[in-house]
Amino acid sequence: MTGIGRTVVVLGATGQQGGSVAAALRADGWAVRAVVRDPSGHRARSLSAAGVETVRGDLGDPESLRAAFSGAHGVFSVQPASGQAGAGVTDEDEVRFGTTVADVAERCGVAHLVYTSTVAAGPAPTGVGHLDTKSRIEAHVRNLGIAGTVIRPATFMEILMSPGTGLGRGHLSFLMSPDQAMQFIAVRDIGRIVAAVFGSPGRYAGRTMEIAGDALTGKALAERLTRAAGRPISYGRLPATLLAQDEVLGRVAALADGGRLAGSADLDALRAEFPFLLRFDRWLAGPGASLLEKALRSVDTGIALR
Ligand SMILES: NC(=O)c1ccc[n+]([C@@H]2O[C@H](COP(=O)([O-])OP(=O)(O)OC[C@H]3O[C@@H](n4cnc5c(N)ncnc54)[C@H](OP(=O)(O)O)[C@@H]3O)[C@@H](O)[C@H]2O)c1
Repeated sequence: MTGIGRTVVVLGATGQQGGSVAAALRADGWAVRAVVRDPSGHRARSLSAAGVETVRGDLGDPESLRAAFSGAHGVFSVQPASGQAGAGVTDEDEVRFGTTVADVAERCGVAHLVYTSTVAAGPAPTGVGHLDTKSRIEAHVRNLGIAGTVIRPATFMEILMSPGTGLGRGHLSFLMSPDQAMQFIAVRDIGRIVAAVFGSPGRYAGRTMEIAGDALTGKALAERLTRAAGRPISYGRLPATLLAQDEVLGRVAALADGGRLAGSADLDALRAEFPFLLRFDRWLAGPGASLLEKALRSVDTGIALR
């Protein structure tokens, strides 16, 4: 119980990463204040039922963030990816949201800001909008006058269960070639790592950490999935025609080929530091079991990799 009596504000708590962070912080005894756009929505109400304070706010409304951050010890910052169909968030919006959260946190006297980025972030642009936005936000966070920690999660295990990956047809299509390894992380573990980071600011302030729980080739993914599903699942790279037609997907696949999106976290060192990190087979048997079951029954709707 590291956080007793202190409050961490969590952005995106109705989503994957923020939801995981809110749950892990609560488990460690922190008071959690979630900034939500719709406090009466079912996800916000589930948060309230789990002991999370919900306050109305919007990333596009700095005044609402100021009110939410007041008196808080920490802030967890996540933004919706730019360019996502239907979300209406541009690259400039994502950068503005991320830098505003950081600026408001500094002005409110927040002691520790944790910003979640992406494995592909870095000084050299990738040419992919929703990845390069994160490098720009990272740079801003590092220049703040408060303690900041940047985490760079690997590709989420959850994304492999999207309807567009083809599991409903007994075949997984993804970015890498069958013999190339790529690193992945369970969303659950992002929350646990962030809770550990808030629990030990002296150890983690000022650090940028790539985080992952497993590294698997396409063939290894197929083998684990076959075992978990109890029926054959094959693996193939996303079709070349699709990668040629979809400019963003093509660039993202090239980043996987070049290693930048495949990840290079030191898994042994991470597991020594965070022993709870799930490998893919453990995730399939645990938090991923219901997602796998649903994916096996799904119909393809196209892949969205953000
Ligand atoms: N998929 C991967 O493998 C991967 C890997 C690394 C990084 N990422 C990055 O992760 C980020 C997304 O994280 P996620 O998957 O946790 O998100 P998510 O599940 O899509 O949830 C997005 C959250 O942001 C909230 N939100 C959206 N617009 C908002 C606004 N204007 N003001 C306040 N809150 C707002 C949503 O709230 P509502 O409930 O109100 O909609 C929701 O809680 C993206 O930037 C993506 O690029 C993804």
